[in-house]
Amino acid sequence: MRENEGMGFDLPALLAAHRGDGYELYGRYLNPQQPKVLHAIGFDRTYERAEGAYLYDSEGHQYTDFLAGFGVFAAGRNHPVIRQALHDALDLHLADWTQFDCGPLPGLLAEKLLARAPGLERVFFCSSGTEAVESALKFARCATGRGRVIYCDHAFHGLTAGSLSVNGSAEFRRGFGPLLPDTSIPLGDLDALAAELRRGDVAALIIEPVQGKGVHMPPPGFLAAASELLHAHGALLICDEVQTGLGRTGKFFAYQHEQVVPDLVTVAKALSGGYVPVGAMLAKGPIFEKVYSSMDRVMVHSTTFKGGVLAMAAGLASLAVLDDEGLVDNAARTGEALRAALTAMAERYDVLADVRGRGLMIGLEFGKPSSLRARTSWNMLQKARVGLFAQMVVVALFQRHRILTQVSGDHMEVIKLIPPLMIGDTEVKLFTEAFGEVMEGASRGSGLVWEFGRTLVKQAVRG
Ligand SMILES: Cc1ncc(COP(=O)(O)O)c(C=O)c1O
Repeated sequence: MRENEGMGFDLPALLAAHRGDGYELYGRYLNPQQPKVLHAIGFDRTYERAEGAYLYDSEGHQYTDFLAGFGVFAAGRNHPVIRQALHDALDLHLADWTQFDCGPLPGLLAEKLLARAPGLERVFFCSSGTEAVESALKFARCATGRGRVIYCDHAFHGLTAGSLSVNGSAEFRRGFGPLLPDTSIPLGDLDALAAELRRGDVAALIIEPVQGKGVHMPPPGFLAAASELLHAHGALLICDEVQTGLGRTGKFFAYQHEQVVPDLVTVAKALSGGYVPVGAMLAKGPIFEKVYSSMDRVMVHSTTFKGGVLAMAAGLASLAVLDDEGLVDNAARTGEALRAALTAMAERYDVLADVRGRGLMIGLEFGKPSSLRARTSWNMLQKARVGLFAQMVVVALFQRHRILTQVSGDHMEVIKLIPPLMIGDTEVKLFTEAFGEVMEGASRGSGLVWEFGRTLVKQAVRG
């Protein structure tokens, strides 16, 4: 008899019986490279509990979360209000996905989102960021009757086939073509955009107001100028706010740092507080009228899992928490404090070449240091692989200080900080002290290199 067969289902017992088995099971049945990479860089912890901005592993160690599940835990992990909303939604035994009804929760969440996005009138709910992007691409093509979409170098909009067509990194695209007709322009290049628009076949420009890869921003005024130019040529502006939306940059939407109303806006990640996969596309009314132009076309763009009660309940609770706890303002204030402290550090450590970003989306870029010893290690690493230094900083922050961060993309010396929006002075101090210690060692020479090498070797021996 198979384990648990005929014994009902007991989740706590199942987890207890398989404590520590995650990596082996993942390697056997899912992406085999995932556990290999995590073993190699020494990130192979087993987390058992999480609260706010902290994770706890099976040995009881505390980790500070400056990654927030790639940005989903805006309100922090296991937030009591969002958890309660989910418990309530289950306990009410609601009739979810009847498919032939219109329950109130999607309408209520759409109303609350649109109230924060003046000028946008309708919402399509789905289950992920890439699905929101797919929806925006389809709606833009349908509304304009054109096929080509412009995107920016280094853009990241998801990895399904349509979203991949507007991905600005060759490494993601390789092996999956041919994709949709598309053309990239340098971020912030209005002349390049104008040249493409003159060909008359462009449906839209899709852009992240702050790029997830590299944390680059278009110059001030670009979004507004691009919107004007697009409209003059009958094309649309899609702002992808999957990562930047819901307060991450210190405004509810990052495009709101400028005087512009995009035609389409995508969100996902933090919308359900990190509990239920969810995505949404917000748009101007006439775009929806083109797509859903008659009763015949009611299902022309749809998905089985649109507007599920768990996602909607968590979404409504998340918006309430963002408001009640002032998390958007906190992202602006705490982000500013964190950036100021890190910028001061850039004056002390020349290997820290740039500190940039908005709110609690911060990029730290490294560059060639001046001291001979540090420069020698830097050159050696650049020869081995561009991006290795940033990876070593991420590993040092994790191994020495138990802080979870990520590199901001392949082949670039940038790390990205996207902590929960509820962090405060304690976490700013904790991070800056730890980062200062890592920079101090890196500036003195090869400490980081040896430590990283040791981790790789140790893990290889263990593996
Ligand atoms: C700007 C942006 N768009 C789209 C996506 C894709 O979202 P998902 O991973 O939910 O498909 C991401 C994911 O990181 C993103 O950052």
